[in-house]
Amino acid sequence: MSTNTIDNKRKVTTRRLVEMKQRGEKISMLTAYDYSSAKIVDGAGIDVILVGDSASNVMAGNVTTLPITLDQMIYHAKSVMKGTERALVVVDLPFGSYQGNSKEALASAVRIMKESHAEAVKMEGGSEIRESIERILCAGIPVMGHLGLTPQSINKFGTYNVRAREEAEAAKLISDAIMLEEIGCFAIVLEKIPADLARKVAEQVTIPVIGIGAGGGVDGQVLVMHDMLGINQGFSPRFLRRYADLATIMHDAIGHYVEDVKSGSFPSTEESY
Ligand code: KIV
Repeated sequence: MSTNTIDNKRKVTTRRLVEMKQRGEKISMLTAYDYSSAKIVDGAGIDVILVGDSASNVMAGNVTTLPITLDQMIYHAKSVMKGTERALVVVDLPFGSYQGNSKEALASAVRIMKESHAEAVKMEGGSEIRESIERILCAGIPVMGHLGLTPQSINKFGTYNVRAREEAEAAKLISDAIMLEEIGCFAIVLEKIPADLARKVAEQVTIPVIGIGAGGGVDGQVLVMHDMLGINQGFSPRFLRRYADLATIMHDAIGHYVEDVKSGSFPSTEESY
């Protein structure tokens, strides 16, 4: 068995992600929210599965990520864990479960770890939520940071435009990233920021930096599965590459099934008992 084949089967851990950065191997990360998708995503060789609060948009049909609850995130995470063997599973702490009170933040993270058996949590923000991140880290729960466009703060930003184009915001983002590494986060997601800034951050920290709309100079990439498979067709930002058009494939297959039921050609004798 070649080293590569062994690596393709070895369980991904937070430590392995750091090793991947050290040897220049890019990290692949994708969202999943349910058992069947997680099985496919994991089987295809994704390194990190994110049970993202984007479930609020693509699973529940909400306009923002704000409405999803801790109970709902735990439900999704439990289902994903059942379908995952190799990938590291990271779960978003939802809006309102960690921002203002570090004890509540720890209680939320503990619930995710105990009830879903997931392996890490992700939290949006820098210095503002330092105390919450530190308390969670102290309990031995790995934390992935998330800087740049942080969708849970959409009502503060007012738009989903590219972040940190201005010098002051870029400087804060860099100092937040260094702080996240110093306090012990194992990785950082950078969302929708200029590629040069993202590259600079990835060069300044030793932990992996995973980008979404942050260019190719970072240590890995993450996308929302429903967007890259073309299930969610109403969202086409410049950073999104569509790898399939599943909405059309599903629409046509279901239309075909409707025709067969209406015409009586389904089920056939072979499909009957
Ligand atoms: O919730 C999510 O899917 C995310 C990714 C966009 C990084 O946080």
